[in-house]
Amino acid sequence: MPSFYITTAIDYVNGSPHLGHAYEKVLTDVIARFRRQMGDKVHFLTGVDEHGQKVQASAKKRGIPPQQFVDEVSAEFRALLPKLNISNDDFIRTTEPRHKKVVGDVLQQLFDKGEIYQAEYKGFYSTRQEQFLQDKDRNPDGTWPEIFGDVSEITEKNYFFKLKQYQDWLVNFLTKNPDFIFPAFRQKQVSEFLKDPLNDLCISRPKERLEWGIPLPFDEGYVTYVWFDALINYYSAVVDQPGVWPATFHVIGKDILVPPHAVYWPIMLHAAGLPLPKGIIAHGWWLQRGAKMSKSTGNALNPLDLVTEFGADAFRYFLIREMNVGQDSDFTREQFLVRYNSELANNLGNLVNRTLNMTTRFAAGAVPAAGTLEELDLSLRALWEKTRDEVIPLCEGFQFHTALERAMIFLTETNQYIEKRAPWKLGKSTDAKDQALLRTSLATMAEALRLAVALIQHVTPSTTEKINNVLGHKAGAVWRDELVWGGKLTGVKVAESLVLFPRPAPPAAEAPAPKKKA
Ligand code: ME8
Ligand code: MG
Repeated sequence: MPSFYITTAIDYVNGSPHLGHAYEKVLTDVIARFRRQMGDKVHFLTGVDEHGQKVQASAKKRGIPPQQFVDEVSAEFRALLPKLNISNDDFIRTTEPRHKKVVGDVLQQLFDKGEIYQAEYKGFYSTRQEQFLQDKDRNPDGTWPEIFGDVSEITEKNYFFKLKQYQDWLVNFLTKNPDFIFPAFRQKQVSEFLKDPLNDLCISRPKERLEWGIPLPFDEGYVTYVWFDALINYYSAVVDQPGVWPATFHVIGKDILVPPHAVYWPIMLHAAGLPLPKGIIAHGWWLQRGAKMSKSTGNALNPLDLVTEFGADAFRYFLIREMNVGQDSDFTREQFLVRYNSELANNLGNLVNRTLNMTTRFAAGAVPAAGTLEELDLSLRALWEKTRDEVIPLCEGFQFHTALERAMIFLTETNQYIEKRAPWKLGKSTDAKDQALLRTSLATMAEALRLAVALIQHVTPSTTEKINNVLGHKAGAVWRDELVWGGKLTGVKVAESLVLFPRPAPPAAEAPAPKKKA
């Protein structure tokens, strides 16, 4: 069984989780579920990044000790996961002893090998991005880009990791591994970045300036720079589990690709003599009216509001259907409602209702066996085979939005099939040929529904399960077998109805005015 280890970024716990964090978990979960279906032995890690200046400042603002603060906020991040149907195997907090120990070990090893030295640091620091800045990071007019928030100048004695000496090695590695970063245009950006000389990486903060961090094992006067600490989570979480490291993919947002994940992390691993991950998937941003949704700017949407209103699967469906992995996407409630109504309620919801309702009315609730197949049945079946054969490679290439589009086309065509066959007319006829056609139609729609929901189950796991339940279907262990058109439902008893995607209540302002009493 191929082993597949996938991670999300670990979130800063300086505020509540927002839609961008939820998206990253959902995307990673969709990949993890898809790989499990394909037969891989998946390990899925997510977690929280609890150290650093930004978290310390947020705790101070609340007037509570950092540990108490991170305990509270991390619980909130963790609680979100089951609400989004996330199937993670582990959750790591960087304040856990298992993590701190490994960070200390890696630092000591690099120090002993002479990869770390002490020197005076002078430069600029962005607390919002927890990142050291260089002059080339400035806007053309000399100001700092918005994303960095407040930038401060620092002069202090610190420890440095010898990054520069590995620049040629990294350039060479990327040339030899052109598919290391998805999408490919992001790897080009990394190569561009590496055209300028690298600086060695400052990996410490004096305790007078920052207390909230992992102490350097070789100098108690310092704590570890938060990125050096955080990146190691991917390794520390599995260090005790043989055969899991290296990661197959790190899923992250585009803002933390260069330099942390594409430069620091490969070099840290290489210097420590550890194998590199197979790849990095850098997704885009959810925007609101063109601006990045973020905790720091206060334009963030609470994912739980949408989940409470529409259910986890509808929320997951929208995020995955709308976002082309790697690009940005604007979030609007209008667009959410369009997809919810037309694709989930009308297209999928209708097929469920029709299948249950007509099977109940015309076959006493038991799915009949199909008779002789005609042109109409054969072409729907051919469309199924084409859809399935396209969707699997699309998912393997992270084109989940297109995969869902194909599944929707199949559902639309199945609904069309029903229109053309009009089982409600056949049901009124006593003619033997019509009765045979009716049985074939009922069998075909039930089978098409079963297949369609199996095809999207990594995006809509609980909806697929609910539909399987009302279809009296127990899904088999091998996903590819589930995707074979084969009259698997013949003879099963179906439920009479299932409410799946109810129409949302209109906003208060649009609600009809109560009728005046005569
Ligand atoms: O960067 N749309 O944490 P973080 C999509 N602790 N994704 C978004 C987003 C948006 N509007 N806003 C944030 C950190 N994200 C570090 C990571 S990993 C060793 C340490 C994504 O809480 C962002 O790109 O600022 C990142 O991948 C994740 O949410 C956590 O962001
Ligand atoms: Mg951020």
